Amino acid sequence: MTYENDIAKVLVSEEEIAGAVKRIAKQMEEDFKCSDKKVLFLCTLKGAVVFLADLMKNFNLPAEIDFIKVSSYASGTESSGIISLKSGPDLNDLSEYNVVVIEDILDTGNTLSWLLNHVKNTMNAHSVKLCALFNKPDRRQKEVKIDYQGFIIPDEFIVGYGLDYDEMYRNLPYVGVLKPEVYNK
Ligand code: IMP
Ligand code: MG
Repeated sequence: MTYENDIAKVLVSEEEIAGAVKRIAKQMEEDFKCSDKKVLFLCTLKGAVVFLADLMKNFNLPAEIDFIKVSSYASGTESSGIISLKSGPDLNDLSEYNVVVIEDILDTGNTLSWLLNHVKNTMNAHSVKLCALFNKPDRRQKEVKIDYQGFIIPDEFIVGYGLDYDEMYRNLPYVGVLKPEVYNK
């Protein structure tokens, strides 16, 4: 069994992703090189871990990392919009940090608008920025400011480079679109 038979097309190649990661890391270095606060990459689980790993290796300033898991409760098939923290960072108080939330994809914006507010107002971060590798603007329900963005993509469900369908395909090194029959299995 291989993944390749399930992929209809490659949307973003490994090389294109590597280029975007380098560009974003340089942009972040410019933004943070003069700050006297520490940088914390706060990575959302699980989808953003591959992106985090590549990004942090390209960021040439001191930085810490931590992880956060957010759940959005659904009632039936409709998202209720009720969001909570399933697991948070080690520290409750982030006032000594410039926090960069690392996200795989910005879709409706419901999770991120809650999370950015939580990091700023409940965890008291010195500053909060959002870094999302992919952005699907057509799907937005809540306005969210993206400070660092990899690719704007059409309204298609993508997998790979950390992104999953039913917990699969996260370990593909590129990003692709699944064949329709995969959803109907
Ligand atoms: P939202 O912005 O609150 O709708 O949530 C974004 C989350 O939905 C992401 O972190 C992903 O876990 C998931 N997601 C949205 N679009 C896709 C996609 O195309 N492929 C895989 N996961 C997606
Ligand atoms: Mg995710």
